[in-house]
Amino acid sequence: MIETTLWHPVAGSDALAGTPLALRLLAQDLVLWRDETGRARAFADRCPHRGTRLSLGHVVQHGGQAALECPYHGWRFGGDGGCVLIASQPSFSPPASHAACAHEAQEAHGLVWVRLQPGDSALPAFDAGTDPQLRTLLCGPYDVATSAGRIVENFLDLSHFGFVHDGWLGERTHVETPAYTVQPTPAGFIATGCQAWQPQSNRLSTEGSWVDYHYELTAPFSAVLTKLPQAQDGYRDVIGLFVCPLDEERSRVWFRLAVTDHDSSDDALRAFQHTIFTQDQPVLESQQPKRLPLAGGEVHCAADRSSAAYRRFLLERGIRFGAIA
Ligand code: FES
Ligand SMILES: [Fe+2]
Repeated sequence: MIETTLWHPVAGSDALAGTPLALRLLAQDLVLWRDETGRARAFADRCPHRGTRLSLGHVVQHGGQAALECPYHGWRFGGDGGCVLIASQPSFSPPASHAACAHEAQEAHGLVWVRLQPGDSALPAFDAGTDPQLRTLLCGPYDVATSAGRIVENFLDLSHFGFVHDGWLGERTHVETPAYTVQPTPAGFIATGCQAWQPQSNRLSTEGSWVDYHYELTAPFSAVLTKLPQAQDGYRDVIGLFVCPLDEERSRVWFRLAVTDHDSSDDALRAFQHTIFTQDQPVLESQQPKRLPLAGGEVHCAADRSSAAYRRFLLERGIRFGAIA
């Protein structure tokens, strides 16, 4: 499965502290923990001894280093997965075959990312996250009962605003979607020239405005949206969508905000994003099939240029998790 060679977000960095965290990624159970240097470590959530969930265990100190201790017979595993102690045979040096199954992990954009299989894939870009003029904030996670593909496609979709987000990101009196352009990039594609009429484009907007939208698909399950409200000179909202495919029809979603709004509280910014996404969520969870049909099965119109490009992209890249080809 090609998806296993990609980096996926699995947890907010802040959510990972001293306790092991049980997670799911691409229908596999994982345990996430921090070693003595604070580095995030990801293992298969299964002890090589008798298959117990390591996430029920504890992070302990072992010879000056942190180790993950299994709850059943107390075997201990170091950051690289190697077994460092078999409690019942303390003088025995465990061989490599006794190691936990370790995966690569790293942190970026306020999230911990895991790759199940080695490869040359890059982390999805979010350049706005390091722009000193913008303030960053993580929103989520949201657990959504649908495929990752349905969630990304909804994020790229402009023509639902007047219905799903009436009075906020759209208005029933302005539902016509002006033409826009889609161009491929090495990582995905960009959609430019998008425009939407928005009564309440962001927390600070005081009047309705045309808003210029720029979308970028940065990886199969990541996208970045830049919003420039014409009525707010110099204001910019950049929203990164990062979706973890838990199972084929279950996903976990984070939004990384990078915005000009330096005044609103974190809670107020999150509340705005929460309002918008909880308008999307019931619609997303109602869609059948939950897996994204990549070739046929649903019909498009000209406003769906991005959706059509997204489905083509997944088809061409061989992405099949949560999809119907
Ligand atoms: S099952 Fe983990 S130590 Fe025995
Ligand atoms: Fe929406």
